[in-house]
Amino acid sequence: MKKLLILLASITLFSGSSVAQTTREFTPGERWYDEKGELINAHGGGLLYTKGTYYWYGEIRGTSASEGVSVYSSKDLHHWKNQGVALAKSKDPSSEIAVGGLMERPKVIYNPKTKKYVMWFHLELPGKGYDAARAGVAISDKATGPFTYLKSFRPNGHMSRDMTLYVDDDGSAYHVYSARDNYDLRIAKLSDDFLSVTTQDSLLFSNHREAPALLKKDGKYYLITSGCTGWKPNQASLHVSESLFGPWKLLGDPMKGPNAKLTFDGQSTYIQAIPGKKDAFIFIADRWNPKDLKDSRYLWLPIRFEGGQPVVEWVDRWSIKSAFHN
Ligand code: DGJ
Repeated sequence: MKKLLILLASITLFSGSSVAQTTREFTPGERWYDEKGELINAHGGGLLYTKGTYYWYGEIRGTSASEGVSVYSSKDLHHWKNQGVALAKSKDPSSEIAVGGLMERPKVIYNPKTKKYVMWFHLELPGKGYDAARAGVAISDKATGPFTYLKSFRPNGHMSRDMTLYVDDDGSAYHVYSARDNYDLRIAKLSDDFLSVTTQDSLLFSNHREAPALLKKDGKYYLITSGCTGWKPNQASLHVSESLFGPWKLLGDPMKGPNAKLTFDGQSTYIQAIPGKKDAFIFIADRWNPKDLKDSRYLWLPIRFEGGQPVVEWVDRWSIKSAFHN
């Protein structure tokens, strides 16, 4: 019995979950466990920071199924508590968010005027593959949800697949989305309540890109995107502009290091700024595993600036302290 207890204790001590829970380092591509030792299931996601807490929203995936949107919370970006399902699939088979459809790339922003948390995501209707190409919107009074599904639409009539949300310094919010079968990347300004798009909707470029992730530094916007190769990785590109509505200039591939040409086998999903630290951003990507989507891995890497331009260089392990010195 004593031997069994010692064995159990050492398994717990050296299992991936306990390493993840004691470390202050990011280990891109390794399995990442929540504070209960369960694999974090939050793919194609995005973060929201409010009042000292980070919330991580992402796709809940089964082996392949899309099972709603999860939300995790953390004070330090390392240790994540599963806060449950932020937006559940509807049990009503006639619902737009019924089982059999897709909810991808969820992003959540807070609207200080309405005091609501607003979620946008890429919605595909049950049984229709990727044909619907719509933006879905849901709302909650709390960051942890549960969110109430409101509606879906094609922004100003445009197809809408991969997407991100961006809140600028003046509080206005934008939806950046792949349109026209992913040939176009577009941006639409959101209404004041963040629940709809306005007609301020413009083409950014037509380079067949998806997986947009944005950051702003010294008044310039930097946009990282991927190519369109399904779940397979491809080369990232970086664009810069002085205005969200363009003109956007292509700067090239911001990835550096082994396998940089395939974005380290990953695909961008979000860029998180670290509050209180100047020019400290984390590049967040998914390393998809189409054979078992729930076991797709997360690549979190520090962004550094070379000649003012963002560079994402591969590192096996890193910490906020080591990467960002101010
Ligand atoms: C690439 C997109 O970026 C993902 O979100 C997902 O839609 C896959 N394509 C599906 O093949």
